[in-house]
Amino acid sequence: VKQHAGPYVDSPLAPVALAFVAALRAHHEESGEHTPRVARISLRIARAMNLSPSRTQDLYFGALLHDVGKLVVPQSILNKRCGERLTESEWETLRAHTWRGTTLLQGRGFNEAILCVVEEHHQFFDGTGYPYALAGDAISLEARICSVADAYDAITADRCYRAGSPDAIARHEIAAGAGTQFDPAVVEAFLKISADELSALTAK
Ligand SMILES: [Fe+2]
Repeated sequence: VKQHAGPYVDSPLAPVALAFVAALRAHHEESGEHTPRVARISLRIARAMNLSPSRTQDLYFGALLHDVGKLVVPQSILNKRCGERLTESEWETLRAHTWRGTTLLQGRGFNEAILCVVEEHHQFFDGTGYPYALAGDAISLEARICSVADAYDAITADRCYRAGSPDAIARHEIAAGAGTQFDPAVVEAFLKISADELSALTAK
């Protein structure tokens, strides 16, 4: 079992985190399968950026749990994204998965750095993201890394309403977002990772 549970399996946080991922998978399969891939890509970017071991571990758990707030977003809204348009109030509910995720995790041993990844993974480097419109260094570095990993997986993974795009397209879109959606330093580190390596990290 340990071999399949991912890194940091001996951390006291692992059983709680993995239980949340299992719950998320049961609630919305696409999201539950997405977050472990984002955690693996995030770890690889952390290595490329020489992040310290303790920050790397926080990033890992943050990325593993980044969409956990979708547990409290109704399935009718999560599944509606397979084609139909969301109403403005449904979008608001969906965007709230960020801070509602941190609410779910509070008091369960996850530190501030981990919670920041969950709360800030949709912040844009230029300040146009949500939920707080933070910009630049005001967004935690771990969240800025998770944001790039999240985008790569979102672009390349098959969704119920479309096939995933190839690596080259994802790379191009992420490079184009450097300085607006993404931290340019994170993008630079990310682009050095080979397509083969990313494909192994995101393999089903
Ligand atoms: Fe998200």
